[in-house]
Amino acid sequence: MGTSPTPSDDVFVVRRSAPLSGTIRVPGAKNSVLKLMAASILAPGETVLSNVPAIADVPVMADILRGLGADVDLDLAGGVCTIVFDDEPDWHAPADAVSRIRASISCLGPLVGRVRRCRIALPGGDDIGKRGIEMHLEGLEAMGATVVQHADGVEVRAEELHGAQITLDFPSVGATENLVMAATVAEGRTIIDNAAREPEIQDLCGFLVEMGARIEGAGDPRIEVEGVPGLTAVSWRTCPDRIEAGTWAVAAALTRGDLLLENVRPGDLTMPLMKLRAAGAVVEEGADTLRVKAEDLEPVNFVTLPYPGFPTDMQPQFMVLLSQAQGTSMCTENVFESRFSFVEQFRKMGADIEIDGHHALIRGVSPLRGAVLDGLDVRAGAAGVLAGLVAEGETIVRDVHHVDRGYADVVPRLRSVGADVERVPASDVELPASDA
Ligand code: EPU
Repeated sequence: MGTSPTPSDDVFVVRRSAPLSGTIRVPGAKNSVLKLMAASILAPGETVLSNVPAIADVPVMADILRGLGADVDLDLAGGVCTIVFDDEPDWHAPADAVSRIRASISCLGPLVGRVRRCRIALPGGDDIGKRGIEMHLEGLEAMGATVVQHADGVEVRAEELHGAQITLDFPSVGATENLVMAATVAEGRTIIDNAAREPEIQDLCGFLVEMGARIEGAGDPRIEVEGVPGLTAVSWRTCPDRIEAGTWAVAAALTRGDLLLENVRPGDLTMPLMKLRAAGAVVEEGADTLRVKAEDLEPVNFVTLPYPGFPTDMQPQFMVLLSQAQGTSMCTENVFESRFSFVEQFRKMGADIEIDGHHALIRGVSPLRGAVLDGLDVRAGAAGVLAGLVAEGETIVRDVHHVDRGYADVVPRLRSVGADVERVPASDVELPASDA
């Protein structure tokens, strides 16, 4: 069953809201489920994924897998995705769907593993800076593959795929995932040093082990994979979305509210929770819940880094929070080169943020006023919605298809905890002449 793409010309209209209060259930992780779907390429038979979030990137990944020959049944309401590869997958990934999501590059490792070749267009995704794939390609070359660059993408072939000792320049999430996936069915042992350690990598490795892979060290900087002749399709529950949980935790503190978040793994959020507490929030951790409330907000400094550092995917939301803290905070962005593009939009609301290279000085408390925000990526879009909750007047967040990529049903879920937010067709909104 397919799903229709979300209309992209809607806008969110956000108004100053009372403190948010109530319960939000957090779905499965965007940045895990897309990789789990790609990993299904590695095994013949039926893969069943549960806790699948109803986000827009999931049907796009389903289309990519269909283009590779899979039968995909997507029950987004029930959170289940069933993928069946009866025959050997095609090796040529469909360019139109691939160009729409960054995670499409995660098909590279499994295809090279299973069918020993792959042709894939360069992936799309957010506009947050240069997003090369040379670490993915160099790692596969070390495993015996040859890479040919085409104008529109790459072709990778490996007559023989063997284990290798690979040291990544940077603990890239995508490169670690692709190399682990290819290595599960390569000849011999692969050692990846300076590997990414994100919870989503651990989820993927857990899934691969369930499929029969031999992997040690998932979550550590060194991952070792002993290749096996083949994997078996299995069922797996996607890990919770720590970034969604973190976004709502910020919303609770920002609005001086009190939110209970369910289906969370607090241990995946150690650093953001530490910073939230330093900013004055009260955070109660349960086994799979988080309760976050706040009154006065204090400034804090934070530095984005690969896990277990502070996640870059929560940087814009945190900037909004700190704009409402009494004093000056500093943020240093180390993962993406253009992730401060949100600041330009946020300044339109009255935020006092000064950028110097990859540092941002955030001066609070800035009284925020509604503005029209656009050109935002998935996290900046979410941050724009948060800012609107504490701004005077009306905030219009355009290009909401970006937010749809990572957050399902934002409007009903936020409304259920007291947010004044609605989603309307852009044509229903009268914009100031400067923004029309
Ligand atoms: N990089 C290279 N060359 C490579 C690989 C990466 O230069 O071969 C650079 C990137 O340009 C970037 C940095 O290394 O500056 C980090 O990239 P990484 O490979 O770690 O990130 P990714 O796999 O492309 C995933 C998430 C991102 C998240 C990052 C970092 C998915 C689909 N995306 O991207 O999620 O920010 O890891 O944690 O898993 C989001 O959800 O909003 C989002 C952007």
